[in-house]
Amino acid sequence: MILVTGGAGFIGANFVHFWLERTGEAVVNLDLLTYAGNPDNLADLRGDGRHVLVQGDVADRELVRELLARHRPRAVIHFAAESHVDRSILGPGAFIQTNVVGTFHLLEMVREYWSTLPESVYDQGATQRDFRFLHVSTDEVYGSLAPQDPPFAETNPYQPNSPYAASKAASDHLIRAWHHTFGLPVLTTNCSNNYGPYQFPEKLIPLVIHHALAGKPLPIYGDGQQVRDWLYVEDHCLAIMRVLEAGRVGETYNIGGWNEQANLNVVRTICGVLDALQPRMDGRGYAEQITFVRDRPGHDRRYAIDARKIEAELGWKPRETFESGILKTVRWYLQHAEWVSGVTSGAYRQWVDRQYGGPG
Ligand code: NAD
Ligand code: TYD
Repeated sequence: MILVTGGAGFIGANFVHFWLERTGEAVVNLDLLTYAGNPDNLADLRGDGRHVLVQGDVADRELVRELLARHRPRAVIHFAAESHVDRSILGPGAFIQTNVVGTFHLLEMVREYWSTLPESVYDQGATQRDFRFLHVSTDEVYGSLAPQDPPFAETNPYQPNSPYAASKAASDHLIRAWHHTFGLPVLTTNCSNNYGPYQFPEKLIPLVIHHALAGKPLPIYGDGQQVRDWLYVEDHCLAIMRVLEAGRVGETYNIGGWNEQANLNVVRTICGVLDALQPRMDGRGYAEQITFVRDRPGHDRRYAIDARKIEAELGWKPRETFESGILKTVRWYLQHAEWVSGVTSGAYRQWVDRQYGGPG
């Protein structure tokens, strides 16, 4: 049995599916079901006894204590977070509350639970020695790279620039301290930008697919030459599984696809795939919808991951190329129009209206 937090969000839901398919080991999924958490992401698991979804906050100590005592997981994988940089600029409070304070309360409850586990390897079930707390974090904690800089290694200093990145950096530091001070067996992963199924269409790739099909402008912040290192979400899930299995306790592992792309190039690639799979009725290209808009304040220019540590130590390598991953992703969104319309009503609508000034 493992416990995941935030398993109804984008990466968490992909991970729950991936985990159950690969291992069959049961999962307790603690998720607050914020705007980003969607039970529909787990719809195919309804009635599957290997998955329990519990709606609740990682900061709710009593709930977390009770879940740990009842299910006695051998590992906790912490995905839950506020995750969107633009939202963290408009309202940083929720980021501090969930990513920093929430992680602190979760850590305290996990530490309490872990200290009650039997030490012995001969005991059945979870043991102190084999228990793991895996913290899922981001490359954004390292700040921004200049064009000539080498990619981020695990030894890079933390230089977070956005409220989101700062809140994740703070949580990474808490994880580190709970290991060094209390001996909690932790692992931290810092991954680059993910894309794939179930991503909420406020992030660049699903937003562009959704806007393109709806005939709306495709907003490019600034000059569109900002660089991100894109990784298909299933490759991230595989990396997390490898780190959980074989990562060295107390270590951090950078995860990335060696796939640096300028935003404008990403958007043009998506337009090209859509032109091939679902051409516009008027015969023109989707790239005509590209619109340059005001830049994000404090916009980081470049992220890139040096993934040599996880590759050398744990034998992980991304399986998907950007071309194959984007094709799969666009196909998924085309085949899941109902999912998209479900998540783009309500809270999403209000967000877009605030961002772009009225229905767009
Ligand atoms: P997401 O926003 O899609 O999902 C977050 C999930 O956490 C949602 O299901 C939400 O309901 C839940 N949640 C939020 N606050 C909660 C709380 N207080 N208690 C319990 N659940 C809560 O995010 P994502 O893109 O799936 O990211 C998951 C994790 O991976 C985050 O920690 C993020 O920082 C990290 N990460 C994301 C990326 C990326 O490209 N998306 C890259 C690297 C790391
Ligand atoms: P995003 O998906 O929000 O991820 P992050 O900010 O965590 O990297 O954005 C990816 C890149 O795309 C980032 O450089 C900002 C840019 N972007 C746009 O140009 N237009 C958009 O509408 C969005 C959402 C992002």
